[in-house]
Amino acid sequence: MARFTLPRDLYHGKGALEALKTFEGKRAMVCVGGGSMKRNGFLDKAVGYLKEAGMEVQVFEGIESDPSVDTVMRGAQAMMEFQPDWIVAMGGGSPIDAAKAMWIKYEHPETTFEDMCKVFGLPKLRGKAKFCAISSTSGTATEVTAFSVITDYTKGIKYPLADFEITPDVAIVDPDLAETMPKKLVAHTGMDAMTHAIEAYVSTANCDYTDPLALFAIKMIQNDLVDSYNGDMAKRDSMHNAQCLAGMAFSNALLGIVHSMAHKTGAAFADCGAHIIHGAANAMYLPKVIAYNAKNLEAARRYGVIADFMNLGGNSDEEKVKLLIAYLRKMNDALNIPHCIKNYGADSYPTENGFVPENVFLERLPEIAKNAIADACTGSNPRQPNQEEMEKLLKCCYYDTEVDF
Ligand SMILES: NC(=O)c1ccc[n+]([C@@H]2O[C@H](COP(=O)([O-])OP(=O)(O)OC[C@H]3O[C@@H](n4cnc5c(N)ncnc54)[C@H](O)[C@@H]3O)[C@@H](O)[C@H]2O)c1
Ligand SMILES: [Zn+2]
Repeated sequence: MARFTLPRDLYHGKGALEALKTFEGKRAMVCVGGGSMKRNGFLDKAVGYLKEAGMEVQVFEGIESDPSVDTVMRGAQAMMEFQPDWIVAMGGGSPIDAAKAMWIKYEHPETTFEDMCKVFGLPKLRGKAKFCAISSTSGTATEVTAFSVITDYTKGIKYPLADFEITPDVAIVDPDLAETMPKKLVAHTGMDAMTHAIEAYVSTANCDYTDPLALFAIKMIQNDLVDSYNGDMAKRDSMHNAQCLAGMAFSNALLGIVHSMAHKTGAAFADCGAHIIHGAANAMYLPKVIAYNAKNLEAARRYGVIADFMNLGGNSDEEKVKLLIAYLRKMNDALNIPHCIKNYGADSYPTENGFVPENVFLERLPEIAKNAIADACTGSNPRQPNQEEMEKLLKCCYYDTEVDF
């Protein structure tokens, strides 16, 4: 038996934020990030709509990018004091993911972070509050997914929490919120969405319900992302839906080792002065992982279907895989994303000498590879890498060398 779960309601289209006016409850806790929602007036609007619905509202502000366990615990404490019956999380993947984890701790104060990390092992939620997610970036689709990614900075590791319990009750996909994104964010979150759709399509947990969502999302992202990056706002609006469709697919079909590697490299070099931004990590690793996975015949066939759906040409699966890889690399160029960690600057742009020194990378490689294999996203990848293969793959992602194993 397989399960397919999505939010009960999804409000979409320009002005969809107004749906908050129809919510029923007593107290709403609005969780936001570093300030973009406030600066652009969306926070005030959301608070106003919730008050119009007759609710008392408290705002939990300042959730950082790649949120920490500490922030989750602080937010849960604020919830325990305010006792909301609605949690409304607004912004990029970071504040929404943090609010999901706060929700678990609020409903079950005895739960530790280690408990939360048990994949599909969360206790029942909704005894105290329902959850609404309003995304402002076009990538993570956390507004519809069963995932939350929290970083343990003592270990330098990102942990994906996964359980349908944290699939939000309501998702609001209002493209107005995405229109204020700076270009770099459009590029990174857009390639994150492309990775979600491609990994979901070749995942071993794919099914008839997830395939159409994944394929259509890939086609939309192919049509819209680069133009959205270059300022086409109609395409920007369309990307907001595309990433959400990709999310519906991967929340139910799961992901693969591109995400395992992104989770385990993202914060691993924070002491060298920067993060490898999630979407950029995916964009760099995706072509390498496709080459690795395509040694599995069923995965190669599925990449072939993707290439056909994108009208890339090619006569055999082998040719189609090559064309797909070339197309994705071209997208990275158009979006100003480097091809490998060695050329990844601290500002995320391509540079001759990236911020991760070669000796540091090689020294940490065995540990990173081990952690990537243990990541929750590895189980549904079409090929299961051993330690040696994962190290070789990560090296290809560092040096931009061919994957021939
Ligand atoms: N839950 C999931 O299913 C899932 C999936 C993929 C990734 N993730 C996680 O999500 C996090 C990344 O989320 P993200 O890529 O959405 O970025 P983010 O939430 O970290 O935001 C990045 C920056 O963009 C700003 N910002 C957000 N929206 C804006 C807007 N509309 N206009 C201007 N500025 C805006 C934020 O203030 C922040 O400074 C990572 O931790 C990643 O691991 C989660
Ligand atoms: Zn992702």
